[in-house]
Amino acid sequence: MQTSVPTETGQRIGVPKEIFPGEKRVATVPEVVEKLIKLGFRVSVESGAGALANCDDDSYRAAGAEVVATAVELWAQSDIVFKVRGPSSDEVGLLREGGTLISFIWPAQNPDLLQQLAARKATVLAIDALPRTLSRAQKMDALTSMAGVSGYRAVIEAANAFGRFFNGQITAAGKVPPAKVFIAGAGVAGLAAIGTAASLGAIVRANDTRAEVADQVTSLGGEFVKVDYEEEGGGGGGYAKVMSEGFQQAQRAMYAKQAREVDIIITTALIPGKPAPKLITAEMVRSMKPGSVIVDMAAEQGGNCELTEPGQAVVKHGVTIVGYTDLASRLSKQSSTLYANNLFRLSEELCKAKDGVANINMEDDAIRGLTVIKEGSVTWPAPPPKLPAAPAAAAKAAPVAVKKPAHGHGGASEPMSAKSLAILMAVAAVLFWLIGSYAPAAFLGHFTVFVLACFVGYMVVWNVKPALHTPLMSVTNAISSIIAIGALVQISPIAGAVGRPDSLITWLAAAAIVLTAINMFGGFAVTQRMLAMFRK
Ligand code: NAI
Repeated sequence: MQTSVPTETGQRIGVPKEIFPGEKRVATVPEVVEKLIKLGFRVSVESGAGALANCDDDSYRAAGAEVVATAVELWAQSDIVFKVRGPSSDEVGLLREGGTLISFIWPAQNPDLLQQLAARKATVLAIDALPRTLSRAQKMDALTSMAGVSGYRAVIEAANAFGRFFNGQITAAGKVPPAKVFIAGAGVAGLAAIGTAASLGAIVRANDTRAEVADQVTSLGGEFVKVDYEEEGGGGGGYAKVMSEGFQQAQRAMYAKQAREVDIIITTALIPGKPAPKLITAEMVRSMKPGSVIVDMAAEQGGNCELTEPGQAVVKHGVTIVGYTDLASRLSKQSSTLYANNLFRLSEELCKAKDGVANINMEDDAIRGLTVIKEGSVTWPAPPPKLPAAPAAAAKAAPVAVKKPAHGHGGASEPMSAKSLAILMAVAAVLFWLIGSYAPAAFLGHFTVFVLACFVGYMVVWNVKPALHTPLMSVTNAISSIIAIGALVQISPIAGAVGRPDSLITWLAAAAIVLTAINMFGGFAVTQRMLAMFRK
């Protein structure tokens, strides 16, 4: 049986207090400390590290952590350091030679930091470098956790600066119209903002250059507003690309119309590696009703609004423009808990033997992606992961996955596959002709029905939309439904009318119904349980 080793032998994870001005998050919380100890690790926390995230020293102690008085002591004794923000130069100096650091690093933006850490012979896992398209990696995806919290907080900030209700009300004192909220960019943060604003009762509209997010916007209670211009917005891997001048013009016209109509705009548009697209011009701000609010989540990357001042909330032309760059930190308990859970899931991957020893397995796609420095050698950027994309990211990745082979293999593969298709069709036609000539007439009829049924079945099953279920569940439920219909046809009295029903067939059909019913009703039960998790 698997048991954790005595904690004296496990590696020590250290959690220092974040030193970045205004940062309230902490890299682990007491509930997660217990889980890390079960993996065999020892945990030290700097005194006061969780104070701004409602986690006091005593709660860490109660969870089994050792509370250390100073940062110097903590860094010195830790084999692995968990942090939220990347380390400062001073902190790099405190990291033990050959030690391991896990935190946000942003290696592309911080080449000097990489060099400093490499000089310490460190091993560094940048949580922001996780290959997000791997389904296995989703539980470790701190970028998604933080963007979700920030999207929620953006709506709360907007509500705070807005002088009215979000929901419409009819009161004795008069009728209050619902607030209209427009969300620009429906990535993780945008979708969280849509869900939050809709649950507060606002009328929510949203736009994104990637048309595939329209269904997600609708399912969260928003209305997807299209730009009147045909252009695919996906730039690969589920991210956006810079759009053509024609598209941008059409988009500006649509945004100008929305600015005149809505009360609140929340912008989240981002193109990786590029400055944030300027979507809200000064002119649009001027056209908004007095008392309106803009929350510019892209403030740190230059802002989606021309008048945003990063880190500040300012009032211009009667409109409050919120450019806070620390939205996740403003909900510190929530974001710390989610981040701590992400790091715990990563620790599980690093320590599969539960012996308190982290093993950086560079053969593992997720770990390889995260590892930006291994024992002093810079290993960033990682090659793209070999494994197939996650089901959740399939919609995002699909256009790339389809396009790549066509472009990648150039002219060679295209004619080849067309040729083999033609050969296949010819063989099938000859076979069909042979069967038609020699087989009994009744067989031909049944065979035709069988081929058509296969075709229709295939089209029906693969076009099922995984709306409420996971894709796997919806497909298995669709298959079950088809089996059930087939079995019902076999068991039905029509069979008796044509001739005496074969009792073996009847029993087989009955067994098929029982088995598929288990799958179908089981599917409904699981769906109910999933829905219950979202009900208040
Ligand atoms: P993401 O990359 O998943 O989403 C960005 C979305 O914007 C994508 O759906 C993309 O298609 C869309 N987009 C790009 N160009 C567009 C355009 N011209 N028009 C309309 N939509 C466009 O990013 P995520 O994780 O959702 O984060 C969104 C933003 O929020 C980022 O700028 C991120 O840095 C920022 N953020 C800010 C925080 C803060 O404290 N202020 C905290 C967390 C995230």
